[in-house]
Amino acid sequence: MNIQEIVKGIHYVGVNDRVKHKFEALWPLPYGVSYNSYIVTGDEKIALIDCVSIEEVREFFINIESIAGDRKIDYLVVNHMEPDHSGSIPEIVRAYPDIKIVGNSKTIDMIRGFYHIDNPEQFHEVKDGDKIDLGGRELTFHLTPMVHWPETMMTYVEDAQLLFSGDAFGTFGALNGAVIDRDMETDVYIREMYRYYSNIVGKYGRFVEKALAKLSGLKISYICSTHGPVWNEKIAEVSEIYTRLAGYKSELGVVIVYGSMYGNTAEIAEMIARELAAKGVKRIIIHNASHSDLSDMITDAFRYQTLIIGSATYSMRLFPPVEAFMNAMETREIKNKIIGTFGNYTWASGVVTTKLVESAERMKLPVTASLIIKQSAGETTPAQVKEFAENIYNAMTNPPEASENGEA
Ligand code: FEO
Repeated sequence: MNIQEIVKGIHYVGVNDRVKHKFEALWPLPYGVSYNSYIVTGDEKIALIDCVSIEEVREFFINIESIAGDRKIDYLVVNHMEPDHSGSIPEIVRAYPDIKIVGNSKTIDMIRGFYHIDNPEQFHEVKDGDKIDLGGRELTFHLTPMVHWPETMMTYVEDAQLLFSGDAFGTFGALNGAVIDRDMETDVYIREMYRYYSNIVGKYGRFVEKALAKLSGLKISYICSTHGPVWNEKIAEVSEIYTRLAGYKSELGVVIVYGSMYGNTAEIAEMIARELAAKGVKRIIIHNASHSDLSDMITDAFRYQTLIIGSATYSMRLFPPVEAFMNAMETREIKNKIIGTFGNYTWASGVVTTKLVESAERMKLPVTASLIIKQSAGETTPAQVKEFAENIYNAMTNPPEASENGEA
């Protein structure tokens, strides 16, 4: 039970999930995840901000009751409808039948669709900038669509300079005792913020940028996301990360993702890495797509400037784990990357190069260097790799768009 008063009258009442293996049935949770919920108490009324996943509803009620006691909850503010937060809405409505569910028109439409709550009396629809007075304390609603779904909004408490940000600024990782960043070691959450952003929110960078611009005039001392720590002393750091990620700005570094059945394509990956290392590139990450989790490959590809993809030819297609990775990249509309491709064939000479180049074209990313070998590395391969690495290195040191942070 992680209950904490963040500022006077605003309590954390969220829960940890250390059982679920994969978030959205896709993304590993090695450190668990928290579903954050908050109670805001005014002189006259009480609001609950977001809910939790249905699996954790029992602890959620214990937390709510430990703060609200026998008082009724007047409002349930739904900033985001993905079921990791909205799953327990029906239970809340059952426990507090007079509660008003606060959301915008899209929220209300989704609540009807997901949970078949149809009584119009149950809803309090808000538009951008609307306020609710709790008595000496107001909630202001800012619509921030597509961070992460169309209905997403954020809720601001001006007197506390506190923003309930929905998924924005969220991280994987359950909360280990403390709730606010100043009271904990945050390294793991900062790392998991990159993974959360790239895996979950990454496709919606331009909407995140719009939201950040829209909120830039607010004084914010606390960011209360739906996952991970409450940000207080590290607001500047997490805002910088978000601004950078939303703008698809990379850190210097090379990520090599390859798929290899019998080691011949893997050998090229190692040769490319050695050539780049010899040129002084220090941050090189190699992922064997058959071994690394898609989640980590996406994270690193999102984070670093140069992405080199290699694939064996497989039934006239890319090797399946590489194909899955490229699909994930396309889905996220990844931008501002230096791209290199390499591959290997036994009898179908053009397949891998064509498929990788077509994928890069769909992402509007030019391919800086490309290399193909037949069956296994031969006499000419070292020269091919040298030229490939030279072209990549030149692009890295003269990037079309300046990258930020870190060293090559
Ligand atoms: Fe944490 Fe988009 O749900």
